[in-house]
Amino acid sequence: MRPLLRTAARPLRRAVLMRLSSTGALWTKLNELGARPGAINMGQGFPDFAGSAVARDAAKAALDVPALNQYAPINGLAELRDEIRNFYERSYGSTYDDDEVVVTTSGQEALVAALKACFTEERRGVVVMEPFYPFLAPAIAAAGGVMQPARLGHGFVLDEAALDAAADATTACAVLNTPHNPTGRVFSATEIDAFASFCERQNIYAVADEVYEHAVFPGRTHHRLADRLRDRTISLSSAGKLFSLTGWRVGWALAPRDLALKVSNAHTALTYSAPTPLQKGVAEALKAEDGSFDGVPFTFHRNAEMLAAALNARGLDVFPPEGGYFLCANCHEPAMGFVEKLAFDTGVVCTPLSVFYATPPAEDTWVRFTICKSAAHVDRACEALAPDAWLNKS
Ligand SMILES: Cc1ncc(COP(=O)(O)O)c(C=O)c1O
Repeated sequence: MRPLLRTAARPLRRAVLMRLSSTGALWTKLNELGARPGAINMGQGFPDFAGSAVARDAAKAALDVPALNQYAPINGLAELRDEIRNFYERSYGSTYDDDEVVVTTSGQEALVAALKACFTEERRGVVVMEPFYPFLAPAIAAAGGVMQPARLGHGFVLDEAALDAAADATTACAVLNTPHNPTGRVFSATEIDAFASFCERQNIYAVADEVYEHAVFPGRTHHRLADRLRDRTISLSSAGKLFSLTGWRVGWALAPRDLALKVSNAHTALTYSAPTPLQKGVAEALKAEDGSFDGVPFTFHRNAEMLAAALNARGLDVFPPEGGYFLCANCHEPAMGFVEKLAFDTGVVCTPLSVFYATPPAEDTWVRFTICKSAAHVDRACEALAPDAWLNKS
């Protein structure tokens, strides 16, 4: 039997290209490609397994405790705030007081609240490094800010001159995301230092988006910006990422007291408090965490290596990720056409890197694959990507 996805390729591909007039339409198209029968979705960044059993068991038990079904305190359950503080002290030696922790309804909400905390009437500019996590743009818009993009240099390295060029008198803060979505960079100590110096020089706040802080691959170290720039940094994380529970929508922000109060005020207006029984589940998972995160980062690294080999064999040049949920590769042809061709030829769906830029780059030949799936899912993708895979299907 011929691969199902080959037959409808040409007319659909032409029609698709004509419809792609905006990024929104593009995401819709990618979702459609991922939902086709036989598709192997390597586009979207969510796990295909259940996530922390400790967290799930504790949340199930919490549902039978009457008080844990009512509003949580605005800044989060005391027990969760304690476990967050213990976790940062244990993992990095970073200490926070209780009023420097705000539990939020997702990393995304933490991002909006953190940006709001940085803004004044005169200063609403946000320097972001391109390519960037796509929902950063709506977060800035929701907070009432203006994006000021600064492109990463060749090899996705931090470019201090580009950061300085992007900032002006209206800049309130800059966002540093490490490990980085979409590139898989884990910024080095030197790069973190350069970013911190930039924030000091421009006299602005920093928002350190570290939602992938647990997923750091061998040979790399996660450097917390706050450990270099504590007095100006709001650090963000996400239980959804740490414990593979992206549907739970529990995150947090850590910041010096005055900034944390502003984050808390913004959070009160946005969602008031995060879901109580799920906070209990996250508290138990943090308490039990031994730094291995159930072996999930190990699997993601293994997935990256398998996928890199399969993509290299297909002629792509892979940028080896240093951490996070994603892997980028150069396909040496216009990226959107490649995405569609690959989907129709193999079933494997990836994402053109251009959607992670405010202005698409001149060299639009890069694509992003997710690695945050089970080994079995990634193995299926690798088999489908093998240059002679169609032989096995006929
Ligand atoms: C870089 C980055 N920051 C923040 C978030 C938001 O995290 P959450 O799922 O907890 O809202 C994501 C989610 O994909 C992300 O990739």
